[in-house]
Amino acid sequence: MSKNYIIYTYGCQMNVHESEKIAGILSAKGYACCDDVENADVIVYNTCCVRENAEQHAFGNIGMIKKLKKAKKDLIVAVCGCMTQQKEFAEKLSSTFPYVDIVIGTFNVDKFGELLDKKLSQKKKVVEVLDSPNPICESIIPLRSSFPNAWVNIMYGCNNFCSYCIVPYVRGRERSRKAEDVLKEVKELVENGYKEITLLGQNVNSYGKDLSDGSSFAHLIDEIAKIEGKFRLRFMSNHPKDITEDVVRAIANNQHACKSIHLPVQSGSSRILGLMNRKYTREQYLSEVEMIRKIIPDCAITTDIIVGFPTETEEDFLETVSLVETVGYDGAFTFVYSPREGTVASKMDDQVSPDVKKDRIMRLVDIQNERNRQDSLKYVGKQVEILVEDYDKKKNAYMGRDERGRMAYFEFSRNLVGRFVTVEITKTGGMSLIGKVVKVED
Ligand code: 5AD
Ligand code: SF4
Repeated sequence: MSKNYIIYTYGCQMNVHESEKIAGILSAKGYACCDDVENADVIVYNTCCVRENAEQHAFGNIGMIKKLKKAKKDLIVAVCGCMTQQKEFAEKLSSTFPYVDIVIGTFNVDKFGELLDKKLSQKKKVVEVLDSPNPICESIIPLRSSFPNAWVNIMYGCNNFCSYCIVPYVRGRERSRKAEDVLKEVKELVENGYKEITLLGQNVNSYGKDLSDGSSFAHLIDEIAKIEGKFRLRFMSNHPKDITEDVVRAIANNQHACKSIHLPVQSGSSRILGLMNRKYTREQYLSEVEMIRKIIPDCAITTDIIVGFPTETEEDFLETVSLVETVGYDGAFTFVYSPREGTVASKMDDQVSPDVKKDRIMRLVDIQNERNRQDSLKYVGKQVEILVEDYDKKKNAYMGRDERGRMAYFEFSRNLVGRFVTVEITKTGGMSLIGKVVKVED
């Protein structure tokens, strides 16, 4: 009988894709994926420590496995991801959850299979958290789980050291994949029927700067433009300090690239941006938005915002609100600041109280939601091209997104997942769209 694995993933798309790589490693070893933890022979927790809630969530779940582990002696419990890359955490994990069998950091996750073999051949737990990254491994074939979208790393790590962020400490410095490897992967994915390629990096605009072959993000996008077949190209994340006209023009000229840019602002107050070490002001950010809209007039712009950064006053917060209103975002991920150990901001005096943070995030979410609702209303009566992503059993309808990222629901008599369809929008469901299919692409 084949052995089974289950992977729990916390955090961002980067981690989701890393889990696909671990799944690839396990599947190459003959393990099958299962959805019931009781049937698993290997349980992997791919953790995130970017914000406190993801960290607590993972910690709680690892704690809950104790009973199962006691009942099933051969069960292997592995913990990897950003949390384990922190030395103090790896130690805390060993003392709090002694039944964890494998602890592996972010720098050697490509060696997951070897560490599993090592564990299977010995009683002792296996802990391997490296101080610096292994060279980029190109030989892992991910077992993808997000068809028709495929995640493609173009780089790893981050050099920016925003004062609130733990990523540079747990993911190391920027390392770009060779353009030829990225292009080969994208080409194969398109040939295999994937219809949306999302390029991943903490700061995709600095792609290639660490390579000495003249690679750049703009050039990479130009090369992807030459790949034949119909597919959508997305990428995340951009850093406003590095987005250039060259990149925006490359997006504008690329028939695959969605006219949609994720441009995390974090705050609308130049004072707070300075303390965050973001290296741009409110005014510089706004002039970038203007530049983008000049080159791509209908470009959707989405963002990330943190409220409650240390010392943030009501005035600072209102500057964020006014920036949100000025830009008119197509979507915003909003976060309550959470102090991360070892970062500069966590040592600052004047941390904002939890009540004030909560109040500010609620006000901001209300403003953005209302904006999304108003934007959705503008779609009614129009026809939009949607890439069908899934069937929503609760809503009894297919769901997909338009180029701008707006979600739409519609019924249809046969399976449409992975197809481009034209949907006439008849009404809205709050922020999402509801309509009927008028054309299915071949
Ligand atoms: N607290 C709250 N949000 C954070 N982010 C990163 N670090 C923190 C933190 N300490 C948010 C930023 C980033 C997104 C991925 O997560 O908005 O863009
Ligand atoms: Fe964190 Fe800033 Fe790097 Fe983004 S750019 S990963 S927020 S340090």
